[in-house]
Formats: sequence, structure tokens, C-alpha cells
Amino acid sequence: MNILLLGPPGAGKGTIAQVLVETGNYGLLSTGHMLRQAIADKTELGLKAQAIMDSGKLVSDEIMLGLVAQFLADNVAASGIVFDGFPRTLVQAKAMQERPIKVDKVIFLRVADEVIVARMAGRRVHPDSGRVYHLVNNPPVTPNIDDITGEPLITRADDKEEVVRERLRVYREQTEPLVEFYRTLAAHGDMVFQEVDAALAVEKVIAAITSN
Ligand code: AP5
Repeated sequence: MNILLLGPPGAGKGTIAQVLVETGNYGLLSTGHMLRQAIADKTELGLKAQAIMDSGKLVSDEIMLGLVAQFLADNVAASGIVFDGFPRTLVQAKAMQERPIKVDKVIFLRVADEVIVARMAGRRVHPDSGRVYHLVNNPPVTPNIDDITGEPLITRADDKEEVVRERLRVYREQTEPLVEFYRTLAAHGDMVFQEVDAALAVEKVIAAITSN
């Protein structure tokens, strides 16, 4: 079963993906994490992506489709994948349909912009694994230290308020149309589409997803 997490930046896609992967038998495709790893490794892709991500814009469809194709070639054995951050444009979604990569369920995490801006200010991440924390809502056991590895947590460069607002603008323009795209496919019986109130606490969001 392939699950696609859709929603604005900071809606909780990474947080929910982490729980689904830990509790189910899923592989995880997180395009944001893959790009941040490429930046950390100073690869050619990372060098191209860094300025784009720091400005809140999207990396080109061509680069993203190549990255996802490579991930799928390397993970042929996965029985199901949680897609976090892909697709993010209609071009990417249509390419996924054409390949075809079957999507069984789309979970749309709905949350207002002001909640998102507050969440991003408190987000901390473990760069190697992509594990996500929040200073107040989901703190690590020891402040600023990853629970699993004991390594330091960081603040993402694109979590500055002005960049978050640009990411929200880009989301409305390029990613939000996917909500109707998938609603329509679900109406034809091609997949399940679930809309969840992602302003609720993480446990309630998880409960809403797993009870459906
Ligand atoms: P990416 O890393 O995918 O960023 P994003 O979609 O903007 O999403 P985020 O990771 O910021 O948020 P999230 O929804 O995962 O929330 P999280 O769980 O962390 O992409 C980064 C960049 O890469 C893009 O801007 C683009 O440039 C590029 N890129 C990536 N994919 C691309 C693609 N396909 N095409 C083109 N470009 C691409 O939660 C946020 C915070 O809130 C955390 O602190 C968390 O602890 C907390 N939290 C989560 N849920 C709750 C809750 N229910 N209640 C309270 N707090 C919560």
C-alpha cells in the first residue's frame, strides 16, 4: 500500500510519516530529506538545490523526477511507501500516474497558516535521520539532543519566518491544486482520499488516520 501525505509546509507530513514508518511495514520517500542530505554531502544536486530551498521555492520537476526514479530503482523490494513531499506539482503528480506508481491513499493534512508559522519557529531536526521535534509540542528528552543518537539537533535554514511565508505562497500556487486532482481521482474510485484536521495534537491526527 502506497500512502501519499499532502499538505502545506509544517502541516506535520514528516511527523506523521515517521509514525507510519515506525508502526507499519513502509519505506519512506522524503524528497526534502533527500535534498538536505545532498546539500550536506555537497553533491552536484545539493549545490544546485541549496539556494532554491533557502529561498522557499521549489526545485525543478526534472530534478525531482530523476531523484524519485532513482529512489524507486533502489527500493524495488519495499511493499509500501509513504511519500512525504512528493508530488508537489501537477507535473510531478501526472508523471507519477503515468509511470505508473499506484497511490492507494492520499492523506491531506489541513492546517491554517498562522498555526504553521508558530510550529516552524519551534521545529528542530536531527540532520542525518530527518527526525523532527518541536520545542514545546514534541520536545526531545534532553533539550536540543536527538533521542536516538545523542547527536545535536539543528534549526532548518528555511524555517525563518519570511522563508516560511514564501513557502506557503508557493504551496498555494503550485501544490494546493493537487488536493482537487486527488479528490477527483478518489471520486472515480481510484484511491482513498482522507482529509484530516492537522491543527489537532499529533496523537489525535494519528488516531484519525489509523481509525479510517
Ligand atoms: P520539505 O522538507 O518537504 O518541506 P515542507 O513540505 O515544506 O514540509 P516541512 O518538512 O517543512 O513540514 P512537514 O509538513 O513535514 O511538518 P513537520 O512534521 O516537520 O521540502 C523542503 C524544500 O525542498 C521545499 O521547500 C523545496 O524547495 C524542496 N522540495 C522538496 N520536495 C520537493 C518536490 N517534490 N518538488 C520540488 N521541490 C521540493 O512538522 C513541523 C513542526 O510542527 C515540527 O516541529 C513538529 O514537531 C510540529 N508538529 C507536527 N505536527 C504537529 C501537530 N499535530 N501539533 C503540534 N505540532 C506539530
